[in-house]
Amino acid sequence: MREPVGMGVVGAGAIGIRAAMMHLSQPDVQDRVRLAAVCDPVPGRAEAAALKYGVGAFYETYEELLDDPAVIAVTLCSPIGLHYEQGMMAVDAGKHVHFNKTMTTTVGEADRLIARAAEVGVHLVASPGMMLHPYNQRIRKAILEGTLGRLVWAAAGVAIKDYHLEEEFRTGEDVLTNVDPSWYFRKPGGGPQYDVTVYALHNLTGILGPARRVTALSGLVLPEREFRGRTIACDMDDSTLILVDFGESFFGFVYGTVAGRVNQGFLPNVYGTQASLIGTRIGDRDLKLLDDHQPHVVGEHTTMAESHVFEDLMQLVDWIREGKPSIASAEHARHVIDIIEAGYRAAETGQTQDLRTTFEPLSMEDL
Ligand SMILES: NC(=O)c1ccc[n+]([C@@H]2O[C@H](COP(=O)([O-])OP(=O)(O)OC[C@H]3O[C@@H](n4cnc5c(N)ncnc54)[C@H](O)[C@@H]3O)[C@@H](O)[C@H]2O)c1
Repeated sequence: MREPVGMGVVGAGAIGIRAAMMHLSQPDVQDRVRLAAVCDPVPGRAEAAALKYGVGAFYETYEELLDDPAVIAVTLCSPIGLHYEQGMMAVDAGKHVHFNKTMTTTVGEADRLIARAAEVGVHLVASPGMMLHPYNQRIRKAILEGTLGRLVWAAAGVAIKDYHLEEEFRTGEDVLTNVDPSWYFRKPGGGPQYDVTVYALHNLTGILGPARRVTALSGLVLPEREFRGRTIACDMDDSTLILVDFGESFFGFVYGTVAGRVNQGFLPNVYGTQASLIGTRIGDRDLKLLDDHQPHVVGEHTTMAESHVFEDLMQLVDWIREGKPSIASAEHARHVIDIIEAGYRAAETGQTQDLRTTFEPLSMEDL
C-alpha cells in the first residue's frame, strides 16, 4: 500500500489527544498516515477534537467509525476494559489494530484476538513497544553476552497514586479537558498492574525473555479517591506484589502499587554474579546514549509527550505499508497479560500459577 494509512482514533481522552492526534497531525508523517476519523461517546468531544487536530471525520459511535471506508486501521485510546471487544470488532471489520496498553485483561481474550486477526489477515501492534528503545536492545545484548554473569534476581515495578486525577485533560471546563478517569480505579481494566506495571513487565521480559510461573499478594490500599469534588468508589486492587520464576533459580520481584519504589522509572534492576544492571547502567557504563530514540522518534516528536505511543503507531503504519512486522507484538503483550492475570489468580488462591504463554524474545542476530 503506497498511499497514507487512514487512522481511526477510538476515544478522544488523554492519550487520544496527547499521543494519536498531536503526533499524527504533524506535517512530517502525512506521507505515511492520515487522521481519518475519531469517535467518542461523550457528546461533542469527537467533534471538538476533529476540529482542533484536523481529523477527517467524527462520530459518537464506534460502529460508525468502523463503517467509514477511509479508516484502514484503528488506535484504541479507550479504557482498557473495552479493548478486547473493540479489538475484535475492528478485526471483524477488516481493520488493523494498535492497542494502547494493556491489550486485553485476560490471556483467553488475547488468544482469541490473535487467532481471529490471523484468520482475517490484519495486523496487531500492542503498546508498550519497550524493546524498540535502543538502550533496551543494548542491555539485552550485554546480558546475552554474559556481562552480568549468572543471573540471580531482578526487581521491576511502578508506584502511581494521583497522576490520572491530575492530567491536563482532567481538570479543565470544556469537553476536551474534563475527561473522567474513574475507570483507572475500577474493574475490569483499572489498577496499577494494567496501567503502569505493564511497562515494567515489557522491559523485564523483553530484556530477559519469557517467564515460567508466578506467585503474588494483592490488595486495595485506597478504596476511595476524590475527583473534582466527588468520590470515586474504587473496586480494583491498587497494590500487588508478584514473584516471577524465570527458571534455573533466577527470580524476579515485580510490583504495582501506590507508594514507594526500588528501581528507576519503568526500568528493571537485574543482579548477577558478576555485575548488576541498575536502570540503564552496568557499572560505569550507561547503555542509554545521548539522543537515544526509537526509529520514528525524530524531529518534533523527540520533544513531544507520549513519543513511545507514536512509535508504536508508526510500527503499525510501516507494517501495513511495507509488510514489516513489529517487535511490539501481540504475543509479547499476551505473555505480560499472562503474568498479570496469573498474579491476581495466585493472590486469590494462595497457589503458585504456571504461565501458559510464551513469546520469541530478540535474538543475538536481531541485536
Ligand atoms: N493517560 C496516560 O498517561 C496514558 C499513557 C499511555 C497509554 N494510555 C492508555 O490509553 C488508553 C486511554 O487512556 P486515557 O488516559 O486516554 O483515558 P481517558 O479516560 O483519558 O480517555 C478515554 C476516552 O475514551 C472514551 N470512551 C469511553 N468509552 C468509549 C467507547 N465505547 N468508544 C470510544 N471511546 C470511548 C471516553 O469518553 C474518553 O474520552 C488506555 O489504554 C491507557 O492505558 C494512557
